[in-house]
Amino acid sequence: MSTGANRAIWGSKIGFVLAASGSAIGLGNIVFFGANAYRYGGGAFYLPYLTALLVLGLPMMIVELAIGQQERRALPGAMRRTCGKTGEFFAWWSLLNATIIAMYYITILAWSASMMFKSFGPLFADGAASVGSTFGGVLTSWMTVVFTIGIWALNVLFLSKGTRTIEAVVKLFVPLMWVFMLMLVVRGLTLDGGFDGLLYLFTPDFEGIKSPGVWQGACSQIFFSLSLGLGTMTAYASYLPKKSDTVTNAGMVSFLNCSFEFIAGVAIFSILFAFSMHPGQDTGTLGMSLVVVPTGIAQFPAMQTLIAFAFFLLMVVAGLTSSISIIESPVAALQDKFGWSRRKTLALVTIFGAAGSVAFALPQMLTINDQPAQPLGISLLELFDHWAFGYSLLVVGMVEAILIGHIYGIKKLREKINAHSRVKLGAWFDFQIKWVVPVLLGIVLLFNIAEECGLTIEALGISGRGFYIGDSKQTFDGLSAMPIVVFLTWFLITLVGALSITAHKGAQK
Ligand code: ALA
Repeated sequence: MSTGANRAIWGSKIGFVLAASGSAIGLGNIVFFGANAYRYGGGAFYLPYLTALLVLGLPMMIVELAIGQQERRALPGAMRRTCGKTGEFFAWWSLLNATIIAMYYITILAWSASMMFKSFGPLFADGAASVGSTFGGVLTSWMTVVFTIGIWALNVLFLSKGTRTIEAVVKLFVPLMWVFMLMLVVRGLTLDGGFDGLLYLFTPDFEGIKSPGVWQGACSQIFFSLSLGLGTMTAYASYLPKKSDTVTNAGMVSFLNCSFEFIAGVAIFSILFAFSMHPGQDTGTLGMSLVVVPTGIAQFPAMQTLIAFAFFLLMVVAGLTSSISIIESPVAALQDKFGWSRRKTLALVTIFGAAGSVAFALPQMLTINDQPAQPLGISLLELFDHWAFGYSLLVVGMVEAILIGHIYGIKKLREKINAHSRVKLGAWFDFQIKWVVPVLLGIVLLFNIAEECGLTIEALGISGRGFYIGDSKQTFDGLSAMPIVVFLTWFLITLVGALSITAHKGAQK
């Protein structure tokens, strides 16, 4: 897409809101939110989650939309024009992270699509008992590769004509997923005991919020769920007219996303509680939506097959409107940078991305010395997710806030935002972006890295938390050391990059 005055533009205001909220609402709202809220203890999670939304999510949504809209470039171009070469370097790094997320996101979508088709066959062949084995079969089946490539092909189709095709897709898919989710929540709450799930989710737990892990989980959830730190919001906003109302757009997208997440949480927790399902705290992220919830659906009094089909279809539809946005981010950035055609750029990103998605799916299907290599495959996905979701997004948010806040000058951006927004941002917003966001994210990251490494600082109440792969707790050794080293190297490079900003007096225009 062109970077000039003839850059593509959304066909309507509602088209943008549907696309951006479709980007935000995805597997994060269903799979990740359900698992995180459960892992961190319902009421203990909600308070940090709401705090993260108001203190970090909403302000960063405004910034990411504003730079895209003002500069009419995807993230690297927008960061270059506002913060110089360091900004651009950093943006490319975050796009690489986004591409890795897109890879395994689509693998999960392929598994969800496979489960959707199994709804009419083996899923409930043996009642609730066959759900786990059906998922095991999906993981080890070569059909997953076909589904993975199929999902990539759908993404290419939906992205082929840029805003035109994206808008057509979201106009159909976004209302559809709201209808499915509302149906599911009504069914969940009308189950015997379903209401207890609601109570568990929303009864504040002031003890639980003392753990730094809960705060990291909540901050990562907000970033991922709002599609922040991935460059997607900036790419989508770059197709908006410069005079759009950024504050209203940011508010609407955040509100729609978190409302959806709210009802998704209610639906999942009502099913868990109605059937007294209390999976272990270490239930993998995927297990909650792909096994535990369908196991509950199998015990519904009627229409189990149809409801299971609708649930998986909901995941596929919601996931697709997000995956297209994550892929659009590097596609738009490469087009901006090199002036390539959309077709060529899409082809390049797809070949690279689809290979990665297949690589995430593949280990589940292989055997090594007659032993299934399945645990290795799940480990690979969970390891990448652990670092990309749990840390990288927060680092991206922190550095973005530092660069825009201090180098570009948040006051300048705020004045541009206020010129066209009904709700005006006060000077507090400058303080928020310059100091509150980076300091808060810095503290959350430091506490968690310390905790991750098993450092026990009793005075601070930190104990070695480690992280889970399947049932086994990982510590700072062997397999888990590898991504830690990669992550720390990246963190260091980013930090050096961010510090070198002093060398760039004044942004390059
Ligand atoms: N925001 C997207 C999701 O929640 C990536 O799935």
